[in-house]
Amino acid sequence: MKKTLFLAAEEAGKILLENFNKDFIIESKDTISNLVTEIDKKSESKIIDIIKNNFPDDSILSEEIGSIDAASNCKWIIDPIDGTINYAHGIPLSCISIGIEKNGEIIMGLVYNPMSGEKFFAEKGKGAYLNENKISVTKENNLRKALLVTGFPYDSSRNPNKPVDVFGRFVMLDIPIRRLGSAALDLCWTACGRFDGFWEYNLNPWDTAAGYLILKEAGGLVTDFQGKEYSVYNKEILATNGLLHEDILKIIQNKE
Ligand code: IPD
Ligand code: CA
Ligand code: CA
Repeated sequence: MKKTLFLAAEEAGKILLENFNKDFIIESKDTISNLVTEIDKKSESKIIDIIKNNFPDDSILSEEIGSIDAASNCKWIIDPIDGTINYAHGIPLSCISIGIEKNGEIIMGLVYNPMSGEKFFAEKGKGAYLNENKISVTKENNLRKALLVTGFPYDSSRNPNKPVDVFGRFVMLDIPIRRLGSAALDLCWTACGRFDGFWEYNLNPWDTAAGYLILKEAGGLVTDFQGKEYSVYNKEILATNGLLHEDILKIIQNKE
């Protein structure tokens, strides 16, 4: 399974690298800023072909084609390019994200940015890795010294949760925040200690399936905005080093 996971991501990675900064077809989906490129579709077909050749009975949930239901208790959850807008603009901050769910639990995940050569991997109970090196979250427990990351949903202007107001509350506390444009990388960069925490509204299972496990295996804590245990089918995610979780949650909930 691990071999197939790596093969699928590496073959898709070649497609992303070959086409990076080249001309390709870009279309809008449900909103004008939600893009899909020709390369998302090529990456997705390659990944699914490799999975189907090796595990024909497994189910698939993939961003562009949706669900392929099959008999086994395993589901491969795929984002063929996470950070499509970055990719379409030639910004090397995008990745392939593949998580494997077994009996409703994420058991393996790989996030691969072929432009940087960074592969983040985790298997349940076995820790998290960046390439060959074991990674862990930061030990920062002072929010004033933290570096956070977030993202904005494509419907930010209409989103009833007012994600920009939440962002504003952190900015008004002078806490530095970044916005990378790839939720999977946001999670992995928190897992390896570049960030201390990440939150976002309105994500989908393919954005978080792999990164969620990687962050947890790196010692992080992941919940929804009520502080309840996170599932990849939740729309909202708060992922931190654990030590800052409560402090960040209070600001999101406007209870500070
Ligand atoms: C998007 C990225 C982005 C997040 C969006 C996602 P896509 O995925 O993860 O960081 O803010 O909500 O939809 O469209 O590039 O696969
Ligand atoms: Ca995505
Ligand atoms: Ca995508």
